[in-house]
Amino acid sequence: METAAAVPSTNGAAPPAEPTMADPGRKTVLVLGGDGFCGWPTALHLSEAGHDVIIVDNLSRRKIDLELECASLTPIASMNERVRVWGDVSGRDIRFVRLDVAQDYDLLAALLAAERPDAIVHFAEQRAAPYSMKGAREKRYTVDNNVGGTHNLLTAVVEAGLAAHTHIVHLGTMGVYGYGTSGGEIPEGYIDVLLPGGRPSKILHPAYPGSVYHATKCLDALLFQFYSRNDGLRVTDLHQGIVWGTNTAATARDERLINRFDYDSDYGTVLNRFLVQAALDVPLTVYGTGGQTRAFIHISDTAKCVALAIGNPPEAGAPVEIFNQVAETHRVRDLAALVAAKTGTKVANIANPRKEAAENDLDVSNAKFRSLGYDPVTLEDGLLDEVVGIAGKYKGRVDTGKIMPVSFWNSSRRKECVEAGAGGGVGNGGAFAAAGDTEGMLHALAKGDEATLAKLRAVLQEQSVSS
Ligand SMILES: NC(=O)c1ccc[n+]([C@@H]2O[C@H](COP(=O)([O-])OP(=O)(O)OC[C@H]3O[C@@H](n4cnc5c(N)ncnc54)[C@H](O)[C@@H]3O)[C@@H](O)[C@H]2O)c1
Repeated sequence: METAAAVPSTNGAAPPAEPTMADPGRKTVLVLGGDGFCGWPTALHLSEAGHDVIIVDNLSRRKIDLELECASLTPIASMNERVRVWGDVSGRDIRFVRLDVAQDYDLLAALLAAERPDAIVHFAEQRAAPYSMKGAREKRYTVDNNVGGTHNLLTAVVEAGLAAHTHIVHLGTMGVYGYGTSGGEIPEGYIDVLLPGGRPSKILHPAYPGSVYHATKCLDALLFQFYSRNDGLRVTDLHQGIVWGTNTAATARDERLINRFDYDSDYGTVLNRFLVQAALDVPLTVYGTGGQTRAFIHISDTAKCVALAIGNPPEAGAPVEIFNQVAETHRVRDLAALVAAKTGTKVANIANPRKEAAENDLDVSNAKFRSLGYDPVTLEDGLLDEVVGIAGKYKGRVDTGKIMPVSFWNSSRRKECVEAGAGGGVGNGGAFAAAGDTEGMLHALAKGDEATLAKLRAVLQEQSVSS
């Protein structure tokens, strides 16, 4: 069990925060996972809106960076530094409590009893599908951490007597619906069905997880359903699309508030990965045909949607509120084409490490958020330039050996990728089989640096031996 350490920020010289405690709209909000890519900008957004924000995080994401020998493209400050700087620039305190939601149940329960939060935003899960498929250790960790953490939270809220008081806002994923072709618009969470015998019913949309990670979000959804029915918990589940972008207005206020930016093949989301590849002037690696259609949302809208959800809690005892937190959908090959056109980079189709439909359509409703005033940022709105700028600015920090896939969905995906690589000519390329030109890809990634080229070749050989 980790030791919890409450670390209040120290910003004595700053002006008093507005609105004050007298503001009826001010809420005490726990942000679980508030050190992460979505959690940090959301915590700042909520703090700026006048809420009393407490970040809870076990810093496991930073530990996974060490394990993968990778780091955020952007140089993120330590958690203590982050909250200290935020205090200085905003005049608002954010407290940070280090604890493991999945392991430190007693500390979590004590925190809830002491703070009696009005809302808890739950980001604190292992969120990379590829990492969750890496091997038995990562699969088990993802299930234990995500489902165990969510269940601890629900139990702790009930035990603290906060069931009717505290609103839980959970970050789920569009992936719970699956990425087959639905044949129509995916509604927000529920579908109307006729059960055998012609009985009408409203049920959770069937769950079609495409990875162990996605399966944990489906299991979370069942736990929410149970606890809201059994204990009257007030829960909102946000089925979010893939998040792109880096900074928000709040994180851009000081370099030391900069948000994390993952570009590696396990944690890097597809658009951010493409932008780093473009910054390095290496081909954009599209898995398979790139016919996969996915939903997207800009990081600033993640924060805004969470704030909207907090402002619109369900009644105690009401069914779990479900929103689709998405702005737009795109095929992966279209995204690659867009980035390629913008940056003059080439596109390379490589063997797909994932077991998924080669092509799918995705039509998603986001009507509920829109009815609350959500006006999403889209790729056309020019914010892509900000991310292109970030990728260019920090490209010197990129470890090029981390971009190509290293996690495979099953042994046949691994085998196919490996065989495609062997067909590519150099040793054993695995998913490196870039349109049959693995050696060309390696040269492009190494950018003329012989040491990097040797390192990339060694990685390929290693994969060959271990597969
Ligand atoms: N990033 C995306 O594109 C995306 C898309 C859809 C949904 N989501 C969901 O949003 C949430 C946040 O995603 P993210 O991209 O910010 O991930 P992230 O990994 O950057 O952040 C997650 C944070 O939670 C912390 N954490 C994990 N397990 C914990 C535990 N047991 N106790 C305490 N802290 C713990 C980590 O240290 C990390 O700081 C996740 O639940 C994810 O499933 C993200």
